[in-house]
Amino acid sequence: MLCAPGNAGIAADAECFAVKADDVSGIVGLARSENAEFVVVGPEAPLVLGLADELAEAGIPVYGPSARGARLEASKTYTKRLLFKHGIPTAAAGFFSETRAALAYLRTRQAPIVVKADGLAAGKGVVVARTLAEAESAVRDMLDDGKFGAGGRHILIEDCLEGEETSILVVVSGWEYVILPSSQDHKRIGDGDKGPNTGGMGAYSPAEVVTPALMETIDRTIVRPSVDAIAAEGIDFCGTLFIGIMLTADGPKVLEFNTRFGDPETQAVLPRLATDPLHLLWAAARGALGGYQLQVRPDCAICVVISARGYPGHYATGDAIEIPAALPPGVAVLHAGTARDPAGQLVTAGGRVLGVTAVAASLSEAAAMAYDACESVRCSSKYYRRDIGGRQLRRL
Ligand code: AMP
Ligand code: GLY
Repeated sequence: MLCAPGNAGIAADAECFAVKADDVSGIVGLARSENAEFVVVGPEAPLVLGLADELAEAGIPVYGPSARGARLEASKTYTKRLLFKHGIPTAAAGFFSETRAALAYLRTRQAPIVVKADGLAAGKGVVVARTLAEAESAVRDMLDDGKFGAGGRHILIEDCLEGEETSILVVVSGWEYVILPSSQDHKRIGDGDKGPNTGGMGAYSPAEVVTPALMETIDRTIVRPSVDAIAAEGIDFCGTLFIGIMLTADGPKVLEFNTRFGDPETQAVLPRLATDPLHLLWAAARGALGGYQLQVRPDCAICVVISARGYPGHYATGDAIEIPAALPPGVAVLHAGTARDPAGQLVTAGGRVLGVTAVAASLSEAAAMAYDACESVRCSSKYYRRDIGGRQLRRL
């Protein structure tokens, strides 16, 4: 297995190449020179740049949508229009590129209200405003002050939905798809969902709120219509459709689409598959998902993210990390922002550093195992939430 660019963790399993993920011609060249038989594209940036299209053109099988498919993540306006056109449940919204019109629309709505930059903003382009004044300043930040660059030149003003969130990962191949087990993410930096939003501080699977009956409703009202809508728009989508859903009193509604696996949801979902994930992705790439039987373990999984203290604001890198050589069965420490310094020492190299994952018969057991492992990781700048899975544990 080859990985580009990889990190200090995956280097134990794969040969890593110093090619950046968004260097499209570099990756295609690498795939060619190494005679790659199959390429799985992880992040959104290269998908948006057309990496999957170029690999397909080079005759290399690929899992990950075309640039047109990746637009479902790259443009919230595009996705919202698609959802409206196909009658898929989502919050009401207005589309704006002029401040005056946006502010006039705001005056016709009530707080709380949500202001979203159209384009990719690394999870920071959404403001859930508690007052209209807060919403006005978000509009001005985006449209007048260009705080989000080109991604904020167009905005959406969306009604605020209330409820619990769940993430549904769907492996899609054209008109066919396989829904992976449900999960829930914890987006805020602090315990009790306090503080600013992050890329995700922890996740668990299954999300008990998503009962089999509710999953059936989500499939019927959201997943099937979305896959059909995408195919009907002429997009040959082969990749992951990550659907962020709000479970409202009025039924499940789409918050967003991503066109890749979610982080940290994936760390909690994949360990529960008895099916080899590679087998599933390969089936998708070959257009062979029809009738695919996914095998899921009855276990619970949790992922607690260890970040560098200060994240999502300013944080230091280069801090030494020591992970115990032997971890208990069912526990894995997955790397995100890690690197080796010139002396070979494992060090922090990003905001979110490690994903400590545990699988057990119950969520409480898995949480206890993951937290023991978090304790045992030595790193002077480590930070993690203490309440991952807490909402579900309190409900049990
Ligand atoms: P998005 O990137 O569009 O999923 O937005 C990021 C986060 O903002 C979501 O996970 C929700 O927590 C919140 N959010 C987005 N849209 C809404 C909405 N219409 N109502 C309430 N919260 C929202
Ligand atoms: N956890 C949400 C994401 O990957 O965007």
